[in-house]
Amino acid sequence: MKTKHVIDPEDLSVSELMDIIRLANEIKQSPQDFSGACRGKILATLFYEPSTRTQMSFKTAMLRLGGSVIGFDNPQNSSVAKGESLKDTITVVGGYTDIIAIRHPSEGAARAAAMYSAAPVINAGDGGHLHPTQTLTDVVTLYNEKGSLSDMTIGLCGDLKNGRTVHSLIKTMSHFKGNKFVLISTPELAVPQYIKDVMNASDCEYTEVPTLQEAMPMLDVLYMTRIQRERFASPEDYEKQKGVFVLDRKKLLTAKPDMKILHPLPRVDEIEVDVDYDPRAKYFVQTIYGMYARMALMKTMLDKPDRTPMPRKFDTHKVHCDNPRCITATESYLPKIFKEVGGDMLTCTYCDGRKLI
Ligand code: NCD
Repeated sequence: MKTKHVIDPEDLSVSELMDIIRLANEIKQSPQDFSGACRGKILATLFYEPSTRTQMSFKTAMLRLGGSVIGFDNPQNSSVAKGESLKDTITVVGGYTDIIAIRHPSEGAARAAAMYSAAPVINAGDGGHLHPTQTLTDVVTLYNEKGSLSDMTIGLCGDLKNGRTVHSLIKTMSHFKGNKFVLISTPELAVPQYIKDVMNASDCEYTEVPTLQEAMPMLDVLYMTRIQRERFASPEDYEKQKGVFVLDRKKLLTAKPDMKILHPLPRVDEIEVDVDYDPRAKYFVQTIYGMYARMALMKTMLDKPDRTPMPRKFDTHKVHCDNPRCITATESYLPKIFKEVGGDMLTCTYCDGRKLI
């Protein structure tokens, strides 16, 4: 792999992604052949935010590869509760272990962690920003259930603003030819500008529609997501958005017979339980593909271990990121790093937040 860390789904090239999909399928076919593939290796799962699937799937994946796992799922049980910085925790854990999976409520936290870690870092979700291993889960599912990753009309429904799985999936699927996106959300929960820029840059067609009914007949894939309650400024704001999009059997009457329904889970109320018995519902089998995807990713990263130390000093910009959810808002020692977009705009390297110069 070209990059040491997997922070953004675009850290994996299309050919690296295809290699991981193939390896995931080989492992699924004969898991016994891989039961010692990571013997002696240690994974740290540092979960600063709740998780069922992602954390357990990382752990199970490493155990099934013959390795071991350490970590925390409640930062209050670690030195974080005593005020330890992300930098210090990562410096120490990166020295103890061979690979780290980190989930954090702040956008850009995994990028920040990677700057201080000797061990490779995998982003297991950074706030409402990105979630590359959910995307691996999704593409392994699509590749197996649809037979291809190209020429599809993909509907994404729900909280497209805060849904990190949505952002990551769009980034990856826009690299495959002929994919179109139908974005189904309220105006308040539309995808952020940096994701629209990704679709524009790769000439992917997209439309924004207000209802599931309007989108349904044209879709090859429907990717449902929950409204991300924990990312709202107030309970009232959440109440206004919840329950707007609910998939039920009636709405599926106009769907293509081979459409596939995906959902990263957890589900709240956006898919009625009845839909689980429709053969197009793939969201539970998707979790199994996810475990094999993470086995394939970790095996690939650990086959050629990269423990290159990161530079000790980074150039820092004079301006600050304006995004209150950016990791630089709470971990103040982090160097401010921006890329220029266009002539008059800066993008924060951690969270993709925009700022006029
Ligand atoms: C997703 C996440 O954490 O972003 N869940 C997951 O990783 N399987 C989706 C969500 O929480 O809604």
